[in-house]
Amino acid sequence: AGDKSSDVVWHLASVSHAQREAANGHAPAVLWFTGLSGSGKSTVANAVDKMLHDLGCKTYVLDGDNVRHGLNGDLGFSDTDRVENIRRIGEVSKLFVDAGLLVSTAFISPFVEDRASVRAQLNDSQYSNSQHSNSQFIEVYIDTPIEVCEQRDPKGLYKKARAGEIKNFTGIDSAYEQPINPEVHVKTAEQSIEACALQVVDYLKENGYIK
Ligand code: PPS
Repeated sequence: AGDKSSDVVWHLASVSHAQREAANGHAPAVLWFTGLSGSGKSTVANAVDKMLHDLGCKTYVLDGDNVRHGLNGDLGFSDTDRVENIRRIGEVSKLFVDAGLLVSTAFISPFVEDRASVRAQLNDSQYSNSQHSNSQFIEVYIDTPIEVCEQRDPKGLYKKARAGEIKNFTGIDSAYEQPINPEVHVKTAEQSIEACALQVVDYLKENGYIK
């Protein structure tokens, strides 16, 4: 009786993107919310997340609370640190998308070039899903005038920035570069949070990400 182990062929089991998508019932993507401090990124992202979750989607939110305190706890608000902040968040988003999720990110992400890099990263051939031609990076511009953000000032940061107590504050003495051609353009000063969130969910429906 011979040792048959040499006849055994191991197949490395690997769950394909198509199998994940079939199991989840939706396509994966990152909803990349961008906008000024106090614009409503987190609020709208969390409202979208709740709507998608209630529709049965696999979702997750990445925002300052779970990223700047942990993974990116070593980073501040210089241009260099913001670039690195967004680069790491892009990498983490890519993993969540590879796992099949609809992930919402809520970071100021002030620079056009960095958002373009994340878009390119998400849509590169290694991670792109052959099931459909949809982009896996959806830019959601939370377009709230700085006057409105400053009036809201939920954390009192604009007041401190105006008083010179915080340096490099976005919109005051650090740049915010508006998206040029965002997939979704949301105006929180003109409509309710629910209407803003629906605008994003409708985009996903109209473009075949969700049913
Ligand atoms: S970035 O530019 O994408 O790296 O910023 P982000 O990681 O989204 O962090 C923004 C939140 O940090 C607080 N904060 C500041 N924002 C802008 N500029 C400066 N200098 C700053 N210092 C602290 C602020 O509360 C931001 O929160 P949000 O949720 O955007 O209002």
